[in-house]
Amino acid sequence: MRRQLDPCQVANLAYERLNDGGVLVSCMERSGRANLITVSWWLFGWFYHSRPISVIAIRRDRFSHGLLEEVPEFVVSVPTAEIRAAVDFCGSRSGRDHDKFAETGLTAVPSYHVAPPSVAQCPVNYECRVYEGVHPPHGLLTPEHRALPRDRQHTIYFAEVLGVYSGAE
Ligand SMILES: Cc1cc2nc3c(=O)[nH]c(=O)nc-3n(C[C@H](O)[C@H](O)[C@H](O)COP(=O)(O)O)c2cc1C
Repeated sequence: MRRQLDPCQVANLAYERLNDGGVLVSCMERSGRANLITVSWWLFGWFYHSRPISVIAIRRDRFSHGLLEEVPEFVVSVPTAEIRAAVDFCGSRSGRDHDKFAETGLTAVPSYHVAPPSVAQCPVNYECRVYEGVHPPHGLLTPEHRALPRDRQHTIYFAEVLGVYSGAE
């Protein structure tokens, strides 16, 4: 069994990465094929339904957006500096054209509560199930994003955190 972690105690590790290369979000097609997307838009809080909440914003033209609509679950996997090249790869290539696990050498390990896999090389993996995806309130959008057609803007996914685990035993 991989180590269970306290979601609040390890949130700092994730926040440190957001502005330094981003964190990984693992998601999955209904067929079972998994994908990784790098994100810097992540919020975590302890204030909802007695479970922590995890919020990501994914642009509708990302391959990952379609996957989240198919399987509304994801894992926020917090990388270390050692796998920075893999994180950059996942943030600049699309799962439409690449098998990002295979091409980066990152190892998918089964998650405990959700279908998308966790990442063995990541010391912290937040397993999340989507409550709802919402269109961003107008005031939240930057002028650049406001100018985009709606189908290229973000969906903000609010999710409950079902458990947090290390990537390896
Ligand atoms: C540091 C960094 C942060 C990013 N943050 C986000 C984000 O929060 N939301 C988003 O939709 N895309 C974000 N991206 C862009 C996606 O990671 C990128 O477009 C990726 O290739 C999409 O992969 P996909 O098509 O397989 O989903 C970010 C990229 C980088 C490098």
